[in-house]
Amino acid sequence: MSPKAKPEGVWADQPFKLLDTPGKDKPLSNPVIYVASHMALVHNTFIRALNSIYLHAPLIATSNKILSRDLLSYCQCWVALVALHHQTEEKFLFSAFEERIPGAKGVLAVNVQQHEEFHDGLAAFEKYVDSALAGKESYDSERLLKLIDGFSEPLMTHFNDEISTLMRLEETGQGKDVMKVHEEFEVIVRKDIDGSKVGPMTLLNADKTYEGGKHPFPVMPKFVPYLIKYLVSRKYAGAWKFGSCDYWGQPVTLFMNTLEGKKALAVA
Ligand SMILES: [Fe+2]
Repeated sequence: MSPKAKPEGVWADQPFKLLDTPGKDKPLSNPVIYVASHMALVHNTFIRALNSIYLHAPLIATSNKILSRDLLSYCQCWVALVALHHQTEEKFLFSAFEERIPGAKGVLAVNVQQHEEFHDGLAAFEKYVDSALAGKESYDSERLLKLIDGFSEPLMTHFNDEISTLMRLEETGQGKDVMKVHEEFEVIVRKDIDGSKVGPMTLLNADKTYEGGKHPFPVMPKFVPYLIKYLVSRKYAGAWKFGSCDYWGQPVTLFMNTLEGKKALAVA
């Protein structure tokens, strides 16, 4: 699928760099390439959303109560999505690969170690976001960016490295089982989901045009984006203006570059 229109101005592919998928120039019919590519696409949704936070934060004045609250709420939903992903990887995915795929023992342990490296920084970010939303602290964009700087480097390293460790499962020659474990992982993630936070966050940052639109991600029945847009998104309605795509995976102009956004950001 190619984009309907190019987003205007700076977009959510910076400052943190999006990942190339292993399937960019290799066949997705290979189960390990499919699974590793799927993981890269998931990580890219996290990166686009974080980029949007990073780009919008300094443009919002502390006194702009409505917009700062909406951004903090978006931050809270982002933390929920990333936490769900890492918890499910630790609880199920990595151990299932290691236990059920002969030859996979030890291959993925480094990913869990890396989770430790950004854990404290991410927890500090979450704590600030929660307490600012609870009215215990005021919105301070410099502090918000500093907190992101406190975990972004190990987090990006981890997002990159996990793809190459998953590709190492190719050496086991057990592609079918790798796919089976991954399918179970997908079911577990959906079961644990707090849909109102992570549903819109995922859809609004999953660019279906990425790498020429060759990836079917996220795969879901056709009615689901409608359900998420018109029903599920209501609880955190103010947050979703910071998304980088529409509910159908088409990149959109970032809020800061729209007329509506420019007007809202000009409020002191
Ligand atoms: Fe991951």
